[in-house]
Formats: sequence, structure tokens, C-alpha cells
Amino acid sequence: MNLIAAADYADLSVRAAAFVARQIRSKPSSLLVLPTGNTPLGLFREMIGLARQGLDVSAVRFAVLDDYAGIEPGDRRSLTAWLVRELLTPLGVGQDRLLAFDPLGDSAKEGARMDAAIRTAGGIDLAVLGLGPNGHLGMNEPGTPYDQPSFHAVLTPETIRSNSVYWGSEADVPRSGFTLGLGTLRAARSFLLLVSGAHKAEILARVVGHPDEIELPAVMVHHHPAATIIADAAACAKSGRPA
Ligand code: PGA
Repeated sequence: MNLIAAADYADLSVRAAAFVARQIRSKPSSLLVLPTGNTPLGLFREMIGLARQGLDVSAVRFAVLDDYAGIEPGDRRSLTAWLVRELLTPLGVGQDRLLAFDPLGDSAKEGARMDAAIRTAGGIDLAVLGLGPNGHLGMNEPGTPYDQPSFHAVLTPETIRSNSVYWGSEADVPRSGFTLGLGTLRAARSFLLLVSGAHKAEILARVVGHPDEIELPAVMVHHHPAATIIADAAACAKSGRPA
């Protein structure tokens, strides 16, 4: 596991975009998993800037990390729509290059459908992830096994609380969703975890310092052969000197 310390959020975003751009240049048809949330928004802006400067994204394929279950098409809380709006439309990427969950899909089958689509697409080249305040990855909450296929996940009260900042109040947050499972993410050829802000310092220190705490999903960075963390100074504050 490689921990890269960025000076601040702007620096984290530039470094993350350079990392993603290297992947795209080395394999123009890469299948990238991208998260939503506040952390990746700077990365998205930088990627759009790189594409305007000539980075060729015309063959890149994308998969969503997760989305809420049970929401109707057009729902303002759609995580897929968030990714489309903030990144894919500005990059000129259409639905034909996006693998997404159907929020109204069968809760027992939708995860397997997504995993099959990812296998057919040749597997994930790079999974970019954010870090939940409770150590979750996507909607893989603490205690999720590392071989978990993609599935219908029930959100913990802590995740409902943290997601409420996106939608107004806890009552506005759907109670469950579809997520790429830890097993699906672990099979990605490379793995990039982005961590920003003082409110993530405690959980990052736990993740970095406790490789054996495998009930924390993000600890998987220690158990993946090509995992990188990019964290800003505020997030690194309790993690000691980065390697
Ligand atoms: P954030 O969310 O990027 O908005 O902090 C990360 C997460 O909860 O997975």
C-alpha cells in the first residue's frame, strides 16, 4: 500500500487526476470505477480540464460504485445522475460507456447482473474510492466480507447521517442501495482511495495503522496488490509520517 500525502484538497485533486490520466494513457479503453460524494469533485474538475487539454477519453469506459435502491428515474438523489452531471456529460461520455445499477432492479439479482456486466467488460482496471467516516467503501459497511459480490446493502445509521449532508436531512436518505461488493473491488487491477479533511483523520489513522482490522472495509488497501491512498494534510494529521 502506497500513501501519498497531498498538501491540500487542490493538490489531492491534481494528483488524483494525474493518477487516473496515467491509467487512461496506458490503456485507453480502461474500465474505471468512480465514486460520488464530496471528495472526488475536485478530481472530476481536473479530469475535465485534462480532457480539454487533449487527454483522449473517447474509449474509456466507466462503472458506478453504488447507487440508492428504490428511487425512481429522475430522483434528485440518484448517485448515477450525480456522476453523469459532474463528470460524464462534461467529458462527452454517453450511456453506452457506463455500467450502472438499476435502482428499481430486483434486490436479489441486481448485484449479480452488475458483476456479470463487469466481467463481460473485461474487469475493472482502476477503482477510485472515497473513505466513509466509519471506514466503509461504497455501501460496503463495516463487517462486510472481503469476498462479497456486488449486492443490495442496508445502510448503517452512521452512513445515513453522513449522506444527509448531500440531500438535506437523514429522512431524505434512502435506507439501502446497490454497491459493488468488496470482492468485486478487490479484483480491480488497481485501487485508489482518496481521503480529504480533518473529519477523516481519525478513520484514516485507523485504516493505515491497523492492517489486521479487517472488519473495516477500507483496510482492504493493505490486502490489495496495487493500492494507493492519496490523502491531504488535514486527513493525514493523525497517521504519522507517510511512507
Ligand atoms: P465524501 O463521502 O466523499 O462525501 O466524504 C465518502 C463516503 O462516505 O464514502
